[in-house]
Amino acid sequence: MNTPHLSKTHPLSTAFCGAAKGNWQISAMHTLIGPSLPQVPCLEIVKPDALAQGPAPAWALYGLPSHLRYTTQAEKVVLDQHPSLLNKPENSCAVLIPIQKTAVWWQMAQDERRHIFEEDSQHIAFSQQYLSVISRKLYHAKDLGEDFDFLTWFEFAPENEGLFNELLDYLRSTREWKYVCREIDIRLFRSEASGLLPEVHYE
Ligand code: HEM
Repeated sequence: MNTPHLSKTHPLSTAFCGAAKGNWQISAMHTLIGPSLPQVPCLEIVKPDALAQGPAPAWALYGLPSHLRYTTQAEKVVLDQHPSLLNKPENSCAVLIPIQKTAVWWQMAQDERRHIFEEDSQHIAFSQQYLSVISRKLYHAKDLGEDFDFLTWFEFAPENEGLFNELLDYLRSTREWKYVCREIDIRLFRSEASGLLPEVHYE
């Protein structure tokens, strides 16, 4: 049975648009697995209803925040000690990594997925070491009927890109990543012309 999808124009939905202009400039787009996206110079992040007003972007990826699936209460206490603040002026680098996981992943029960995600891959235990230098936000896309399941967003200061790459190398070596069937690594820097958006707290 097909699950009905939420509308892409859901009030909580955000659109990440690859276009000629935008508040983030793209320094590199690298497809690790699966089909790529057309190369574009900029990324504009907008609410979906704003999309109807301007010229059509080369591509638009939609996602929305959602509740925690795998995090335990004890892990949440640790994560909450470093709330992720977005749009900090010093964090002029960002990375957007859209991710799709395999059908086998989604066919597993919740406890099997949690086991691979954390007990085996230590996604939270390892990543939490980087909380003080990497701000992040996880958007869910699967329930919007998107090709990608997740849009992962990270911000950090330029001097911390090495730490971010170290974390990514770790995650990509884990058992969890054997279930990733599409992944595109999009590196960005804040466009000089863009004003700062209000600070956003990760839930
Ligand atoms: C500061 C570093 C990071 C921390 C603290 C962190 C923490 C977390 C947590 C707590 C979750 C589970 C949310 C839930 O309970 O549903 C999660 C999910 C996820 N994270 Fe990370 N993460 C970090 C970095 C990364 C990086 C670098 C990537 C690479 C793309 C990534 C990709 C994902 C994905 C795709 C999910 C969704 C997994 C799924 O639901 O199957 N994370 N992360």
